[in-house]
Amino acid sequence: MKCVDDFRLKFGKTELVPIVIGGMGVDISSAELALEAARLGGIGHISDAMVPTVSDRRFNTDFVKEKAKLYKYNVANTDKSTVIFDLGRLAEATHMHVGQTMEAKRGDGLIFINCMEKLSMNAPRDTLRVRLSAALDAGIDGITLSAGLHLGSFALIEDHPRFRDAKLGIIVSSVRALQLFLRKNARLGRLPDYIVVEGPLAGGHLGFGLDWAKYDLHAIVAEIVQYLQAEQLDIPLIAAGGIFTGSDAVGFIEIGAAAVQVATRFTVTHEAGLPDKVKQEYFRANEQDIEVNNISPTGYPMRMLKSSPAIGAGIRPNCEAYGYLLDGNGNCAYITAYNREVALHPNDKKVFVMDKTCLCTHMRNFDCWTCGHYTYRLKDTSRLLDDGSYRLLSAEHVFRDYQFSTDNRVALPA
Ligand SMILES: Cc1cc2nc3c(=O)[nH]c(=O)nc-3n(C[C@H](O)[C@H](O)[C@H](O)COP(=O)(O)O)c2cc1C
Repeated sequence: MKCVDDFRLKFGKTELVPIVIGGMGVDISSAELALEAARLGGIGHISDAMVPTVSDRRFNTDFVKEKAKLYKYNVANTDKSTVIFDLGRLAEATHMHVGQTMEAKRGDGLIFINCMEKLSMNAPRDTLRVRLSAALDAGIDGITLSAGLHLGSFALIEDHPRFRDAKLGIIVSSVRALQLFLRKNARLGRLPDYIVVEGPLAGGHLGFGLDWAKYDLHAIVAEIVQYLQAEQLDIPLIAAGGIFTGSDAVGFIEIGAAAVQVATRFTVTHEAGLPDKVKQEYFRANEQDIEVNNISPTGYPMRMLKSSPAIGAGIRPNCEAYGYLLDGNGNCAYITAYNREVALHPNDKKVFVMDKTCLCTHMRNFDCWTCGHYTYRLKDTSRLLDDGSYRLLSAEHVFRDYQFSTDNRVALPA
């Protein structure tokens, strides 16, 4: 019976344990978690979602306070088009977050940053270019392009000195999305260094509709493996979404994946950025406590615990402080939904917005409990303590379990 450790992910001469911890915004995949993956010989992700906010928490900077102060005059205005990010400050925050993480890196593994296209930040191209360039400047090993098709993202950094040396990868959920990406980027003469194929059981935003249950990661991986072979494209494929045990991972490697990307099992580790109380919510969740809904203003379905405080909360939009989901014209689907409810209930002190959520604020406050489909199995990966809580795990324990376990077993903590 094989285990994950019998395989290696190869990037040229670099050989890695074929386990990638996926990006989990906002700072759930913390620097500490990514550093553990790298120390153990795999790949860890930090996230570039709301980096100024993350930097404030991590380094005591004042990026958010400054922006909120600058745009305070606009708080009651429904038009957010004037609320723009200072590109210099954005670069500074990214540089600090990435640079200090890279300085702390030990071991033979790599650290990548997860970059979401849907973080349009009221100036999609300019802000994405700054985020990508600053991460490269600060020495990130690689960038994973996610939450969007990223048809123009490579071109934004084609003149960067590290464009051909850093590892650049994309996340797709279908062969069609991959074909589109390759076609749009053909003129650059630079293929992605890896392709993450994310199926319908993943956490965060999904590349599927509400009919996600009709899709199967094995089938999508098999189709993309076949396509890459037919096109003679030698690009490592990384399977993601619902890979819960080392044996699940081996199953994907045996059908042609070069590695797996996993996340949910790491949400309940000490190193993950969620507050401990929220980690207990993840442990306790049963299958019926998890849903895929449409409350994200991005337009992508998202999986989360039904008890997430973000669901139904009718808070005033916080775009002056955050504003990460404003499209290029100062719009966000939550602002529209919120204004509608306020107009419908003019005398109510508190409104409820059921169809959309202020994702920036709720992700910032760890009140949107996004999670993978198999979150309800987390309780089987730990021990129930006398006080009724579950023992948090170490990232090393979970990583090693993926790396060495066989027979669909999950190792419990000592
Ligand atoms: C809590 C959580 C947050 C996530 N946030 C992001 C994100 O910000 N960007 C992204 O591309 N993927 C995100 N994901 C997806 C993961 O990176 C990963 O590909 C996927 O969840 C793997 O499946 P698994 O969780 O079943 O192991 C998130 C997943 C989880 C569980």
